[in-house]
Amino acid sequence: GDVAVVVPAAGAGVRLGPGAPKALRLLDGEPLLVHAVRRAAAAPSVRMIVVAAPPSEVEAVHALLAPVAPVTVVAGGAERQDSVAAALAAVPGDIGIVLVHDAARCLAPADLFERVAATVRDGAGAVIPALPVVDTIKEVDASGRVLGTVDRSVLRAVQTPQGFSAPLLRAAHAAAADSHTDDAGAVEKLGHHVVCVPGSDFALKITRPIDLAVATHLLTLPPP
Ligand code: CTP
Ligand code: MG
Repeated sequence: GDVAVVVPAAGAGVRLGPGAPKALRLLDGEPLLVHAVRRAAAAPSVRMIVVAAPPSEVEAVHALLAPVAPVTVVAGGAERQDSVAAALAAVPGDIGIVLVHDAARCLAPADLFERVAATVRDGAGAVIPALPVVDTIKEVDASGRVLGTVDRSVLRAVQTPQGFSAPLLRAAHAAAADSHTDDAGAVEKLGHHVVCVPGSDFALKITRPIDLAVATHLLTLPPP
């Protein structure tokens, strides 16, 4: 494998409600992070996995993941991008492709990692899995009054794993002054192209309690 996967997993999971940090909440009896790392490790291109864990959980996360796959665990930071930067710093310079994958997208299949990595390998500097937007999208003002309807055909809902040539991702992170919600956003600010590949319904992000219910059901389906 020529790929490192960086897994931001240091978030609290506020929107999921009170409880453990989100990556350590259980889905079918196992922490989300275990599901996520198992699928990443099943992708043949993946040589190493670096997890950014909640700072107080670094030892516990290492013990949790050791039976699943060989992983490096570092302490995450205050914002997602700090966690990604901390994990990226642990990726050796001889690895050419880095995938950044949210622990919260814990059912993203190994195939999706391969599709993203292959597109980077074929020469794209930055690659994101994306799906068409299904809802009608309105632009509104602060009072909730509708200003207009957005042309949905040019919109995409973006997932992880997002893939990058390692030098480009490092440059984007070094240049990122203000916050960005995804790593491709930092690459866009550098003025580089980002390309989409088809995403996966299984790569949904566990954000609110209903997402855990959906994910529980997805686990009963044949793997994609
Ligand atoms: N993340 C991280 N470090 C942070 C914040 C988020 O590593 N300081 C990770 C989360 O663990 C998650 C991913 O980034 O895997 C996407 O973030 P999100 O879905 O927002 O998760 P949380 O921040 O944990 O959730 P919430 O915003 O509801 O607190
Ligand atoms: Mg968050």
